[in-house]
Amino acid sequence: MQEEQRIVEAEEITPEEKLENSLRPQYLDDFIGQQKLKDNLKVFIEAAKKRGEPLDHCLFYAPPGLGKTTLAHIIAKEMGGNLRTTSGPVLERVGDLAAILTNLSEGDVFFIDEIHRMNHLVEESLYPVMEDCELDIIIGQGPSAKTIKLPIPKFTLVGATTRAGMLSSPLRDRFGIIEHLNYYNQNELMKIVKRSSAIINVEIDEEGTAEIAKRSRGTPRIVNRLLKRVRDFAEIKTGGKINKVVAMEALEALGVDEAGLDKMDRFLLHTVIEKFSGGPVGIETIAVALSEDADTVAYLIQSGFMARTPRGRVVTELAYKHLNIHLSKKTNNQKELF
Ligand SMILES: Nc1ncnc2c1ncn2[C@@H]1O[C@H](COP(=O)(O)OP(=O)(O)OP(=O)(O)O)[C@@H](O)[C@H]1O
Ligand SMILES: [Mg+2]
Repeated sequence: MQEEQRIVEAEEITPEEKLENSLRPQYLDDFIGQQKLKDNLKVFIEAAKKRGEPLDHCLFYAPPGLGKTTLAHIIAKEMGGNLRTTSGPVLERVGDLAAILTNLSEGDVFFIDEIHRMNHLVEESLYPVMEDCELDIIIGQGPSAKTIKLPIPKFTLVGATTRAGMLSSPLRDRFGIIEHLNYYNQNELMKIVKRSSAIINVEIDEEGTAEIAKRSRGTPRIVNRLLKRVRDFAEIKTGGKINKVVAMEALEALGVDEAGLDKMDRFLLHTVIEKFSGGPVGIETIAVALSEDADTVAYLIQSGFMARTPRGRVVTELAYKHLNIHLSKKTNNQKELF
């Protein structure tokens, strides 16, 4: 089960990059939803521009597919700088970091994806860079070793992470702007469906839009993926136009139900109900039993199919209803938790 690629996977799946880039909003005004974050960023960007300075370092944390990389691109565009991109695990040595930093121009945006996965030596060498635009390089070894300070042009560091809790506090404290992205609501998802269908040039009606939005797990990346697959169905069945019937048929065929759950999610819920009497069960136990990652469970919790309790995760009444399992199957242990 684990090896299969899931259509509702929030993480990018290969070869999706081309689609992502073509659908990526370029400016803040094209970025749908996250109103508070956008309002804040707008003010910070305008103020920085007015002062003729680069924007403060920004940290974005959110589950996969909600727009962190997109925001890094937007910041570079809005600030008029170049974007340099890397990721935490790629920066193996301080030298890798130095190579990028010394090639930056003033006002550039340096984006580090998965910043929580940086090696700690690299991370520590980033501190003086973030604070004083100076990179300390050690030359030589032993008693004759010398530290030289390399000046780095003023730039903006944008960090992205799906695991805010795994970021060390000295690193977090060096970001001037820290923003969390939330899952998108139905209205925002519908706007994203409309925007993307206009870009890929597919006709879609209001109900078809609603259907795709509803099953996208609050995640723009999944909106775009489902839209593309539904379009394939529509091309064959309705001459390309997406309506509710063809959207439902396509999504049904793809195994994505009306709540956006796929068979892996339903399997997970069934397993917790059958093997663990509906919970409470520890997140680690779920991960081991199903080799499922925390993101799936996070979505099930966010959508109300599971709940967090002090003793572990439990399957909720909503999930029993959704799966059509009679509530009498619930144990007494569980009843007291509802
Ligand atoms: N607010 C938005 N409005 C419109 N489209 C969006 C928005 N946010 C994201 N998207 C679309 O969703 C896709 C995925 O977004 P993005 O790559 O920025 O996610 P991410 O948070 O960086 O994910 P990951 O954690 O996997 O790196 C983008 O290609 C973009 O088209
Ligand atoms: Mg990304």
